[in-house]
Amino acid sequence: MPRVYIGMSADLLHPGHLNIINEARKIAGENGEIIVGLLTDKAIASYKRLPYMTFEQRKIVIENVKGVTQVVAQETLDYVPNLHKIRPDFVLHGDDWKEGVQAQTRQRVIDAMKEWGGRVIDIPYTKGISSTTLNQVLKEIGTTPEIRCKRLRRLLASKDIVKICEAHNGLSSLIVENTSVVKDNRKYEFDGIWISSLTQSAAKAKPDIGYLDTTSRLEGLNDILDATTKSIVYDGDNGGPQEHFIFTVKSLERLGVSAIIIEDKTGLKKNSLFGTEVAQEQENKEFFAQKIKAGKQAQVGEDFMIIARIESLILEKGLQDALERAKTYIEAGADGIMIHSRSSSFDEIKEFAKEYNKFENRKPLVVVPSSYSHVTEEELVENGINMVIYANHLLRAAYPAMVNAAKSILENHSCKQASEDYCMKIKDIITLIPGAK
Ligand code: SPV
Ligand code: MG
Repeated sequence: MPRVYIGMSADLLHPGHLNIINEARKIAGENGEIIVGLLTDKAIASYKRLPYMTFEQRKIVIENVKGVTQVVAQETLDYVPNLHKIRPDFVLHGDDWKEGVQAQTRQRVIDAMKEWGGRVIDIPYTKGISSTTLNQVLKEIGTTPEIRCKRLRRLLASKDIVKICEAHNGLSSLIVENTSVVKDNRKYEFDGIWISSLTQSAAKAKPDIGYLDTTSRLEGLNDILDATTKSIVYDGDNGGPQEHFIFTVKSLERLGVSAIIIEDKTGLKKNSLFGTEVAQEQENKEFFAQKIKAGKQAQVGEDFMIIARIESLILEKGLQDALERAKTYIEAGADGIMIHSRSSSFDEIKEFAKEYNKFENRKPLVVVPSSYSHVTEEELVENGINMVIYANHLLRAAYPAMVNAAKSILENHSCKQASEDYCMKIKDIITLIPGAK
């Protein structure tokens, strides 16, 4: 009675997967067992994007595939913990895992199986179909507001740190959506998009003083929603008057935005990174807590998040004030805390995190390392931080690049040099957005 183990994500199930299960059926025969080790969201997120379907949804699908006798959770990309428990006779996998990201995983499986005389069988890869191509097609189809809205909670539950990058228009949002790098056999990409008040204002040549009203910011957001499928985190400044805030919450939730972050400031909005250089006043904490409560009551579903942003460190009110506010805002229903700092050192955030992490009702902690940009994601994870927002980098990169091109044209009395030195090819720009031809 051979026992066959197959580890899989079973997210975008295609004939390639079914081929492996069919091969397993031949080996298992009438009385053998086919055990699928279904990778958890966390295991999948450790080496690639979050699956489209939740673990429970994927489990329902794979349990009902002919031949599968049992589905167990595989909590890590590494098969070995499950293999030790199950001690299967065979492990089957598509032979694509001989190379790239999964080669090491395969070797560990081979070594473990030797302990009890089990064998690894690599099944020839099914040509013409792959999760990568299906993923591309799914991206083109797009997403729904409900799926997009839920995504941030799933990401927070599955990833060591959720990485959000600013976009200020449709084009820059495509960069956040599509850019990835492969390093050390792992694929890295951003998890979501930050709709920054600073960069959305700057892109319209307006100061970051709350001059862009919610209607015009949502108009900009709409271009981003059109172009992307990733999670959206919206910078809500101080949320405005409570009466306005509840409308904003409803609008954002309806659009599929995952979270709004509101800061505990009052009066004419000034960018936090000015700190005490300009007059900025922190809001009364009870009053701000009331606004959070009203927002939570206004949302329709369970998934939308209201994250409270604490400005105590920005305004030099000290660590204790920041911690007390975090406590009050969480009690009022905040789904997360963003602690902001304009220090060039990571120390004050580190001190805050150390105390905050002791909270019993702790919620995800968010940071924006604009001034302490040297900090690494690994250090953030070590300090218990759950989400990092790169709040302005695409706009800050774009502006000097455009200035260079403009200067080159002026200096050369011709655009030849600028075209060669600073510009993408005309063919590339006319085909960049699908549907142009
Ligand atoms: C933004 O990006 O608009 C922010 C972050 O709110 S900061 O500019 O640091 O205030
Ligand atoms: Mg802002």
